[in-house]
Amino acid sequence: MGGILNIKDDLKKLAAETAVAEIKSGMIVGLGTGSTVKFALEKISDLLKMGTIKNIIGIPTSLATEKHAGQLGIPLGKMEDYSRIDLTIDGADEVDEELNLIKGGGGALLREKIVAQASKKVLIIVDDTKVSKRIGEKWAVPIEVIKFALTSEMEFLSKRCTKVDLRLDEKSQPCITDEGNFILDANFGRIENPGKLSLELNQRAGIVENGLFVGIADKVIIASENGIREFTRL
Ligand code: A5P
Repeated sequence: MGGILNIKDDLKKLAAETAVAEIKSGMIVGLGTGSTVKFALEKISDLLKMGTIKNIIGIPTSLATEKHAGQLGIPLGKMEDYSRIDLTIDGADEVDEELNLIKGGGGALLREKIVAQASKKVLIIVDDTKVSKRIGEKWAVPIEVIKFALTSEMEFLSKRCTKVDLRLDEKSQPCITDEGNFILDANFGRIENPGKLSLELNQRAGIVENGLFVGIADKVIIASENGIREFTRL
């Protein structure tokens, strides 16, 4: 079991380090969230310490990333001070060949989407277990909902998906996002038209954002035991 976990970590690290190689000195870099991104943060920190890259500013997509990147000595800026980000590196929960993503397994989907949409280039780093023919085959869609609308949006979603759950933490309390909202995990099964579904979800007043990332990623870097392969936007 330990061996399998180590292999997965090795793959995450390989994908992360492949993406970090695209960072150049002086860039404003969006820093995603999750266990794969942690390897990217460590590599960025190493490159800064060695002087291989200089004068970058990292824009964290979550309080967790802000804390970790800060501990690693990566210079950080606040999103509200920047209108444009050169390059963002983030993970994903599920990806397909059309570069559609499901994100938000770590609950950071709202800030992640804001940072990604402000970025000139978005690199997504995954191990090959996250690749599906169509997104939705493996993961429910995380949906960030304001507290006031929790019951009504659950009702709305329950009529459109096979199962919807309020995300709970390890103490069985509702997970609260960095923006103070709840997360609903809605299982739609295989999603044939993620762009349409995303628009439908975001038309609801109580839904702040959803974890379908469509037309956002420029490159998905996939690490497997055979090495790296990439899905690239044409
Ligand atoms: C955070 O909210 C997510 O979007 C993550 O980017 C995603 O869950 C990937 O995380 P891991 O790298 O930990 O699998």
